[in-house]
Amino acid sequence: MILFDPADIRIRVLNSAILAPSPHNTQPWRVAFRGEERIVLSIDHTRLIPGCDPIGRQAFISAGAFLENLDLAAKSGGFRADIDLFPWGWPDARTVAEDPVAHVDLIEDRRVDCDPLFLKIPLRHTNRRRFEGKKVPLEAAGELTAAYDFSLVPLGFSHDDDLIRSVADLAAEAMEIELADRERVRETLRYFRFTDREVRSSSDGFGHAQSGYGRLARFFIGRFILSRERASSSPESFSRMAKKSTREQVAGAGGIGWLSTKGDHRVDQVRAGRAYQRVHLKASALGLALQPVSQPISDYPDMADLRSGIHELLGVPATHTIQMLFRLGYADPVPATPRRALGEFF
Ligand SMILES: Cc1cc2nc3c(=O)[nH]c(=O)nc-3n(C[C@H](O)[C@H](O)[C@H](O)COP(=O)(O)O)c2cc1C
Repeated sequence: MILFDPADIRIRVLNSAILAPSPHNTQPWRVAFRGEERIVLSIDHTRLIPGCDPIGRQAFISAGAFLENLDLAAKSGGFRADIDLFPWGWPDARTVAEDPVAHVDLIEDRRVDCDPLFLKIPLRHTNRRRFEGKKVPLEAAGELTAAYDFSLVPLGFSHDDDLIRSVADLAAEAMEIELADRERVRETLRYFRFTDREVRSSSDGFGHAQSGYGRLARFFIGRFILSRERASSSPESFSRMAKKSTREQVAGAGGIGWLSTKGDHRVDQVRAGRAYQRVHLKASALGLALQPVSQPISDYPDMADLRSGIHELLGVPATHTIQMLFRLGYADPVPATPRRALGEFF
């Protein structure tokens, strides 16, 4: 067991950093301490999902969200986080190297101000409930845009009914494509928690509670409608259910948002992750529910046609990359997903 000094600022900031979002709640972060003040962040290769995320783009987005939380926590403690991205040099954009993603030095600095978004870190949760169907006003989208440095990672938004319906159709089709591949199904089943018992015995993944189902409903669904046995023995029925719920989730959104970048280098992905985290924290502050919809923008070849379709629909040039696509709306909150103990990240 690793013994930590709770007064060490690095421990305090890491406890906030690991509350960041990650694909399937894989938590693909590895950290090390160097000297008195440095944190080294790398990608944990054992937690990549190469079927669903073949070039590791989502893992680097998640590393960006981790760094954003870390930065907010440092400021709240009166420290400046000097973040040096890819200190060993420019990494390849399609393979995941062992090189660190960042060196972070924490320097005490009285001039830093606490950012109010820090307070939202423990309250930000991915919400898979059915949303109320009320439109998200354009002013709210404006506030999301103002929550981060917009210049390199523009935010797109629409609450047009026809567009939402078209995204719902594409997202449902994309879910079917995602689950038509054995490896991708295997990865999803590895991180999906079918019952409360599975939730209690794991410290990663996500389950029905994040879709807003109460205890009794979770018991019946996990036992009779969507059990691990059924999903494993009949991936087709798992896929059918996932497709149906994806269509309903997206069609009931009060708006669709997306973050894109001009390039798709690792630094773009990390930047997009930081932007996404600030957008989600701001959405939480505004009382907005948010859920990413990643299947239509996935990088595996089976999705190429559909990905072009979503670019066309949203008016994003084919030369740019949509890093995050998400639905926004109004819904009751959902419980937090679990995290591994801090020592397991070292
Ligand atoms: C890059 C990325 C892609 C994601 N894609 C999806 C998605 O397609 N559907 C979804 O419901 N959640 C998606 N999520 C949300 C994760 O499942 C969620 O962050 C994780 O389960 C942890 O839960 P939390 O966000 O409530 O802390 C994504 C998150 C990230 C960072």
